[in-house]
Amino acid sequence: MIKHSQFGTLANGQIVDEYTLTNQQGVEVDIISLGAILKSWKLPTKNGEKDIVLGFDTLDEYLADQSYIGATVGRYANRIAQGQFSLNGIQYQVDVNQAGNCLHGGKQGFHSYVWQAEVISEDKNPSVAFTITSIDGDQGFPGKIQVKVIYTLTEENTLRLEYFAKSDQDTLFNPTNHSYFNLAGHDSGSVAEHQVLLAASHYTPTDDNGIPTGEIAPVKNSPFDLSQMTAFKEPLSSAHPQIKNANGIDKNWCLDNFNPIQKDANYAGTAVSSASGVEMQIHTSMPGIQIYTANHFADMKGKNGAIYQAYESVCFESQFYADSPNQANFPSTTLKANDDFYSVTEYKVSF
Ligand code: GLA
Repeated sequence: MIKHSQFGTLANGQIVDEYTLTNQQGVEVDIISLGAILKSWKLPTKNGEKDIVLGFDTLDEYLADQSYIGATVGRYANRIAQGQFSLNGIQYQVDVNQAGNCLHGGKQGFHSYVWQAEVISEDKNPSVAFTITSIDGDQGFPGKIQVKVIYTLTEENTLRLEYFAKSDQDTLFNPTNHSYFNLAGHDSGSVAEHQVLLAASHYTPTDDNGIPTGEIAPVKNSPFDLSQMTAFKEPLSSAHPQIKNANGIDKNWCLDNFNPIQKDANYAGTAVSSASGVEMQIHTSMPGIQIYTANHFADMKGKNGAIYQAYESVCFESQFYADSPNQANFPSTTLKANDDFYSVTEYKVSF
């Protein structure tokens, strides 16, 4: 079932819509057309209803947010060093909006667009598509690009996010979703006791500003080894310089099951809260995943009177590695003119 309502109105009169998708298991997700943002994801658990993503009550709070809460991010998720790259021998300078680098597509990235929504399926596996057109030169990126994100809530309690894009010139493309999860409920405090497992034997170390050094480092014998179920408190309490330099976890893992040829959703990892009994499995066609533990949050006012602090939520951002255009050994993020981009990421919950 899909319920459509108006979430709010921008200063220019544009309406921001809200779509509530409910499956036959009573799971409910809310998406707003600003930023194609996932605003809530409610599960009817035996311990009561749990909303497992952070969010806000009002449009003004979403407009003021600097943390991309729940947002669809593009054209380029995560960082491009100094906002510079060369493509086909041409040097580009894109918007630099964080510590001299381009973060999440620049200041007016996809998170700030009002997306055009279209309901695809209402009854079983409710599904809504969100589309935008980003013009040639938007935030400095070449090519006019048409982008579509389809959110589907399946009857198996998977939230499937599919990304489609086509550009009229060669460009870069690296979309993600920036939801902050807390599997015990968005207002339930620290995620230190959540357990996590990642099918990733390597990660990409960074400098102090989150720019990869270019190394693809083994996770073995480091706090980045999540090949067995590990409580977040272990890496979070580590004195490893790659944890210290981000004030917590904020790194890209290289997914072992990535296959550059096919576009299936391959197993990436699992997160569990034993406090709520909620488990989430992640599958993706993307080569990497950024785990970010909300390291910079402090007294952020969230939904229903919640106050969000650092380490009380965690992002699992499926992506190409940060700064790939400047690292020849990373999978390429070039999208050729008129090629069809497709990627899929699935978050499957059981409770
Ligand atoms: C990503 C980045 C972080 C931070 C957040 C948004 O996870 O890697 O450093 O910028 O997005 O606040």
